[in-house]
Amino acid sequence: MALERTLSIIKPDGISRNLIGSVIERFERAGLRVVAARMRRLDRNEAERFYAVHRARPFFPSLVGYMTSGPILVQVLEGEDAVRKNRDLMGATDPARAAPGTIRREWGESIERNLVHGSDSPETAREEIGFFFGAIDVCDRTDS
Ligand code: CMP
Repeated sequence: MALERTLSIIKPDGISRNLIGSVIERFERAGLRVVAARMRRLDRNEAERFYAVHRARPFFPSLVGYMTSGPILVQVLEGEDAVRKNRDLMGATDPARAAPGTIRREWGESIERNLVHGSDSPETAREEIGFFFGAIDVCDRTDS
């Protein structure tokens, strides 16, 4: 199984409810390592570009409003099968449908305020990591 990287975002609801440590603990317990992390407050333009694939969806304006409502924590996670592992840890987009024990089921409030984002494929992960981080920002932790 290949070593992969994926982008994780702890969204404004996770930050305002002080759940950073609780979420990262899930990643670390599953063997994922944080190799880059940064707290940001997105402006409208950045949020619209990041979620451009959803631009035509009815929930897009609300999603952009929510994602710009407070700081977010963006992280690069690294590990074996990191994309799928992160998605398994997050659970389904709608917390009400997410499996018991997943991050969204535990703390997500609604399909919009669902606490975390994770890349959906290795290709998307490369794009999303590049959106927030340069090569210099991502640390080599193969020995640490
Ligand atoms: P995320 O995994 O970050 O990808 C797109 C986001 O849009 C999703 O999490 C939710 O926060 C939001 N979203 C997806 N579907 C809906 C929906 N039907 N109604 C409201 N928000 C949604």
